[in-house]
Amino acid sequence: MTTLLTVKNLKVSYPTRTGVIEAVRGVSFTLGKERLGIVGESGSGKSQTGRAIMGLTPPHGIVTADTLDFNGIDLLSAPAKQRRLLRGKRIAMVLQDPKYSLDPVMSIGRQICETLRTHEKVGKGEARDRALAMLEAVQIRDPQRVFDLYPHEVSGGMGQRAMIAMMLIADPELLIADEPTSALDVTVQLDVLRIMDRLVSERGMGLIFVSHDLRLVSSFCDRVIVMYAGKVVEELKASELRNAQHPYTQGLLNCMPQIGENRHPLPVLDRKPEWAA
Ligand SMILES: Nc1ncnc2c1ncn2[C@@H]1O[C@H](COP(=O)(O)OP(=O)(O)O)[C@@H](O)[C@H]1O
Ligand SMILES: [Mg+2]
Repeated sequence: MTTLLTVKNLKVSYPTRTGVIEAVRGVSFTLGKERLGIVGESGSGKSQTGRAIMGLTPPHGIVTADTLDFNGIDLLSAPAKQRRLLRGKRIAMVLQDPKYSLDPVMSIGRQICETLRTHEKVGKGEARDRALAMLEAVQIRDPQRVFDLYPHEVSGGMGQRAMIAMMLIADPELLIADEPTSALDVTVQLDVLRIMDRLVSERGMGLIFVSHDLRLVSSFCDRVIVMYAGKVVEELKASELRNAQHPYTQGLLNCMPQIGENRHPLPVLDRKPEWAA
């Protein structure tokens, strides 16, 4: 399998008045045209990992790595302009809540067209046709109508599908989806994930799927890395989740409820200080 992304010893830290916050502390993994899940509880450094790859670490954050390579491009030494060109065109990111990612004062169709025209020389007519086709691909039933709507006029699920359409319109090679459905109802969640999953397979893209939900991740990914306190504590095939070795992963698995199971008392996830060492 060709390697899309190589991450070796990635670190992200934030100097503050009271000391340095180490958000990511030496994360390593490689990614081909496959679906990789990153799981871990809130604050474990998942988003900071995704943002560092995307080049969206806030300016006061410090990113270092032994290797941060995307298709032969050294992301750490790439000039800002090159990284900007990569973003959206070759690496795209879907965030948790479409409300904050879509521009509230621009119609959905126009946003998708503008994204496309930022990255490719296409005329207005062609951009519109491709945006409509993309809205259809994310299973929006009436693309013509939705094209002219503003983000506040659509439901959360439709907004997130529009967001996915916008991220995939320029045909990126790598999609980073950071808790893409956590803000949605459970029923809508699965629809949106299925659409994303199908598009990723059809287009032969690499996917990094970030979530705190181990079960969701393992049902959508080939491989899973488990993060705790800024580090990878375990990497395993999604199909081999049951054989997880690390007590944190086992704890996450144990905390997932099973229908029909007696849960008294509820299990508590014990965290050991040495996991973060
Ligand atoms: N801009 C920032 N300045 C300082 N610390 C930050 C900043 N952004 C995130 N962090 C810290 O980085 C850690 C990891 O955050 P994050 O990657 O967002 O976690 P996750 O996505 O796994 O919930 C957290 O402890 C958070 O407080
Ligand atoms: Mg996060």
